Amino acid sequence: MAFDWIDAAGAARRRAGLVRTLRPRPADSPLLDLAGNDYLGLARHPEVTRGAAEAAGRWGAGATGSRLVTGSTELHAQLERELAEFCGFEAALVLSSGYTANLAAVTALTAAGTLVVSDAGNHASLIDGCRLSRARTEVVPHADPAAVRTALAGHPGRALAVTDSVFSVDGDAAPLPALADACRTRDAALLVDDAHGLGVLGDGGRGALRAAGLAGDADVVATVTLSKSLGSQGGAVLGPARVVEHLVNTARSFIFDTGLAPAAAGGALAALRLLRREPHRPVRVREVARDLHARLTAAGLTAVRPDAAVISVRAPSPEAAVRWAADCRAAGLAVGCFRPPSVPDGISRLRLTARADLTDTQIATAARTIVATAPVV
Ligand SMILES: Cc1ncc(COP(=O)(O)O)c(C=O)c1O
Repeated sequence: MAFDWIDAAGAARRRAGLVRTLRPRPADSPLLDLAGNDYLGLARHPEVTRGAAEAAGRWGAGATGSRLVTGSTELHAQLERELAEFCGFEAALVLSSGYTANLAAVTALTAAGTLVVSDAGNHASLIDGCRLSRARTEVVPHADPAAVRTALAGHPGRALAVTDSVFSVDGDAAPLPALADACRTRDAALLVDDAHGLGVLGDGGRGALRAAGLAGDADVVATVTLSKSLGSQGGAVLGPARVVEHLVNTARSFIFDTGLAPAAAGGALAALRLLRREPHRPVRVREVARDLHARLTAAGLTAVRPDAAVISVRAPSPEAAVRWAADCRAAGLAVGCFRPPSVPDGISRLRLTARADLTDTQIATAARTIVATAPVV
């Protein structure tokens, strides 16, 4: 039969301890959540859900078409204005996800003959953007501006360096000022995926580019997701107006995709306005991340020092990581579990996410549970 190969692939996955399963959560899960990306605790904030509900009531459940046909509402335009203003960029373009935003930015800003210099730790959506582009991609060692400089020096034509601002697996930050310097030496563009920086880093949560003094730079483009700190869904590209205008005309993941659902746009806009009013939330989420990290390392676990809200704790094997996450879950704590092939370095980890709305008691309980269930090595 045509699909017999799938059984063989599944058996190989089971032997390697790499089977993934979906676990639908109930609306009122009793688990303490250190697995999601709702960093500021806004996904269920009444102002945000009201923003989403009112937008759906006013504009409809769906956007009804591509942004270039019927899918651009005044709500999308308002969200774009406020996002650009908040993050310090000239213009913004909202897409249906952070994933499609990255595909749009990489493919529209490159062509055959362009060199893309991509950090080895970049998110899958940037990698897929490189694959979809017709550019030559050179993958450079993780967080290594000297390697970026060398790669750029070897290519006289158009070039783009791409990096996550905060790497989604280990939670470490990219050396953005040094990367921008490397790009400046030969007029290369810099594209930064700030999915984990928006709402967490920079003055009032304005993101990693703002923190690095690069927001609004003529040669810098950022992508963000609306699905983490802003508690909604969707993505955006931020940059010079001419870049946004070029994307509107050429980015296939923008043009051939239905516009972001009004509820998601309305939820994100409400969250953005709330964030502007409550700048203590980004401060708190960073404090929670540092506190969790300190408690885990004090108990002898190996964890990467968090630069934002993500904390990565090393596990001895994929099987141990899966068991550890399951034991945490049985004890009432949801944690993420990363293992190959989604981590190319082959290291399995628990991935924890800090939230601004965690109490000190919840932080202590979470740390105690992770330590008590840790594999014996
Ligand atoms: C670094 C990074 N970029 C992009 C994305 C994709 O964003 P979205 O989930 O909105 O598609 C994610 C996570 O989902 C991410 O972690």
